[in-house]
Amino acid sequence: MPRLQRIGRSWLDGAVGYEIYARSFADSTGDGFGDLAGLTHHLDYLAWLGVDIIWLTPIYPSPDHDHGYDVADYLSVRPEHGTVADVEALVQRAHELGMRFVMDIVPNHTSSEHEWFKAALANPDGPERDMYLFRDPAPDGGPPNNWISHFGGPAWTLDEASGQYYCHLFVAEQPDLNWRNPAVLDAFDDIYRFWFERGVDGFRIDVAHGLLKHPSFADNPRTSTPGPDAGPLEIFFSYDHRHDMNQEGNVEIFQRWQAIAADYDATLLAEAFSPDKRQLASYVGPNALDLTFFLDPGWTGWDPAKLVNEFLEMADIESDGVSWVISNHDNPRPVSRFTKELTGHPDRVERGRQRSLAVTVLQMALGGVPFLYYGEELGLADGAVDPGKREDPLATRNQESGDEARDVARTPMPWDSSPFNGFSTAQPWIFSAPRPPRDTVASQRSNPDAPVHQYRALLQLRRDHPEIWQADYQRLASPSPEVAIIGRGPLVTVANLGPSELEVPLAGGSWRVLFGSQGGVQLDAAPSGGQTLQVPPETSVIVRFG
Ligand code: GLC
Repeated sequence: MPRLQRIGRSWLDGAVGYEIYARSFADSTGDGFGDLAGLTHHLDYLAWLGVDIIWLTPIYPSPDHDHGYDVADYLSVRPEHGTVADVEALVQRAHELGMRFVMDIVPNHTSSEHEWFKAALANPDGPERDMYLFRDPAPDGGPPNNWISHFGGPAWTLDEASGQYYCHLFVAEQPDLNWRNPAVLDAFDDIYRFWFERGVDGFRIDVAHGLLKHPSFADNPRTSTPGPDAGPLEIFFSYDHRHDMNQEGNVEIFQRWQAIAADYDATLLAEAFSPDKRQLASYVGPNALDLTFFLDPGWTGWDPAKLVNEFLEMADIESDGVSWVISNHDNPRPVSRFTKELTGHPDRVERGRQRSLAVTVLQMALGGVPFLYYGEELGLADGAVDPGKREDPLATRNQESGDEARDVARTPMPWDSSPFNGFSTAQPWIFSAPRPPRDTVASQRSNPDAPVHQYRALLQLRRDHPEIWQADYQRLASPSPEVAIIGRGPLVTVANLGPSELEVPLAGGSWRVLFGSQGGVQLDAAPSGGQTLQVPPETSVIVRFG
């Protein structure tokens, strides 16, 4: 059921977001590293595309053990990205163009280079020690429990000087904070206010579901036995994370933050993961956050029934508080992910583009705030990263499972066909093959059949026909688990992700096609009155009555 009033910020209504991987969007200084001024320069492109909200990945000083998700200082900007004044300039220009700017905050852990952690190590009796999770060893001298890191190995590292272990759900250089310590809560209140005072419109909250740990620090039960080739993430998800994630009490922290954000008409958006969709839904609403990402489809390959089921199950429980994505900086790009069985096939990219757009059309009808990931609108496949030059700790720290590396989704934005695709005048921070001209913004803007125009038209449709997010959400009867049919007032969205053509009878007078993710969509008069909509395989269509 739609509960539009659940979203606090009215500017979120009908909005579409766009995630930018900070170091890969645009470099204005010629050091091969994306920066704020480069992004500001390209804001008019995003306004042209029809984006409402920009989310930028972390730009804080960081020793880079996880590409900025290890923050050494939350109150300043890494020099390669620019300055706090550059953030203010970006916000001002975004606002002039009618867009909002959301930063990334990383509260689950800091960098081991953060002053708090350095003090915690230097003085076990000082106040900073309890800002982190130090525990005595198990009786055998090993880690205090069986928790493991997302990036491989135990979630505990020994501080040899004190003989205690500290907890880290990611790499050892990302020590987890103790969210039961009021000093941590106070410090983050100030961090939020610092950036809101500078005009920032909100935050995406990294690992929001991880903040509190169960006070017992008990072992997590194992739920499956991964095979010998399993990568670190697969191993991580072979446990029931009942003690290290999704703890009761996280919501109270969210309430506290959302109250601060409300003073600035700012928004908060969780990066949260839970195997239980109801739990995810509990993180949003009038007494919690405005929005949460629903990340499962980003980990799914081309499994139409699974995709349809994931989206619809989530939307049945909560729709307006959800940010829908098929792509972000942690997943392979959907054009590649959705076409693994077509590896080597000449039409692979084309098919991947069709499939990705078909799924994106469905997302537009689900309510909430869908997000695109930079380059998704260009139909980019995974970037070709030199295997010897992998950057992601998931790969560099787990040589045997390079497949899980996230680098392929983090390559430079292809602006044009000049060297380094116009991203920079210098070798970019990541070594990847240049994109062909047809993948670039410049070439696609001048080709009316290019993906960028389809995505732009879809975003425009959301403005011209606000019923698609505003009118009552109705899940209509579907002839197959690979098909979703959503009614919203006079609009019907049909996502036919399956391999067969579909005929959908439409009752009443006259319907028109507002959008088809590819050609071949047809509306015919039905002998019994009404009309019949023909939807080709792997195609989504939006039609309007009257
Ligand atoms: C989130 C980020 C990911 C990062 C991790 C640790 O999942 O999206 O990129 O590695 O948190 O901060």
